[in-house]
Amino acid sequence: MNHPNYPAILEEIHRDIAPWRTAGRVADYIPELARVPAERFGMAIVTLDGSVYSVGDAYERFSIQSISKLFACTLAFQLLGDALWERVGREPSGTAFNSLVQLETERGKPRNPFINAGALVVTDVLCRRFVGAETALVQFVRRLTGAADLDYDLRVAQSELAHAERNRAMAHFIASFGNLEMPADAVIDAYCRQCAIEMNCVELATAALFLANGGVAPVSGERVLDASSAKRLSALMLTCGTYDAAGDFVYRVGLPAKSGVGGGIVAVLPGEMAVCVWSPGLDANGNSLAGVKSLEWLTTRTGQSIF
Ligand code: DON
Repeated sequence: MNHPNYPAILEEIHRDIAPWRTAGRVADYIPELARVPAERFGMAIVTLDGSVYSVGDAYERFSIQSISKLFACTLAFQLLGDALWERVGREPSGTAFNSLVQLETERGKPRNPFINAGALVVTDVLCRRFVGAETALVQFVRRLTGAADLDYDLRVAQSELAHAERNRAMAHFIASFGNLEMPADAVIDAYCRQCAIEMNCVELATAALFLANGGVAPVSGERVLDASSAKRLSALMLTCGTYDAAGDFVYRVGLPAKSGVGGGIVAVLPGEMAVCVWSPGLDANGNSLAGVKSLEWLTTRTGQSIF
């Protein structure tokens, strides 16, 4: 395959992003996340032919937070297929990732699987099927990456569990409409644990590669999704993966992506590669500020995007 000069472009981005690395705000509503040094920055590209290009702190693990929603949704979609969409929608919400407002008028059916409300329904699907939903998810990302030591950080999970009033309210509210099958507290527990999974940029890009590869994970050879479902999940990432900033993100970056408040963003370019960037400082929408900027520079400087 003929790639752009990824090493040179990554080096340039690493150099140019320096002033932006501390411009965002590290998430502190989960106290354990506030301890992460703001100036960290890593970026990794993994191509379908197995090449890995990285700069900065690309091998340092961080809390994947909402990026776990991508892997959880993949498993739930595997389990339920289109029946998943009877319980969670496929429309951008236009509201914050932790908003409750639409749930009332839309009778407990969250807009999409990537906002917190939707992820709680997805986690409910996994809790119904697996004894430990978070363990199923950890095993899934281990298979996708080949990294057998991947796990969640119990301290981060407990830190979130101790401050999860809003997500708890959301889960109980959804349950009041009959859209949870398992007890709300069990769903919250699994959800906070899966958000606390720790991975690095290379691992996250590797894990997302099945979406760039028609649904087959290159590391394990596992068919994760059929090609059509992989297309659909990528489409959802494009419209909903970066919350109420999804329109601006797609305008600037032009790739399907999923972000997390740990400062990670993973994006895919079908047929070519997956990329992950990490910088803990967030913008007002909860997306990594330097991360979005770096991805914008990447697609502009390589001339590669889905458009
Ligand atoms: O539920 C929460 O608030 C966090 N565990 C995850 C939120 C998140 O990562 C939103 N992403 N930008």
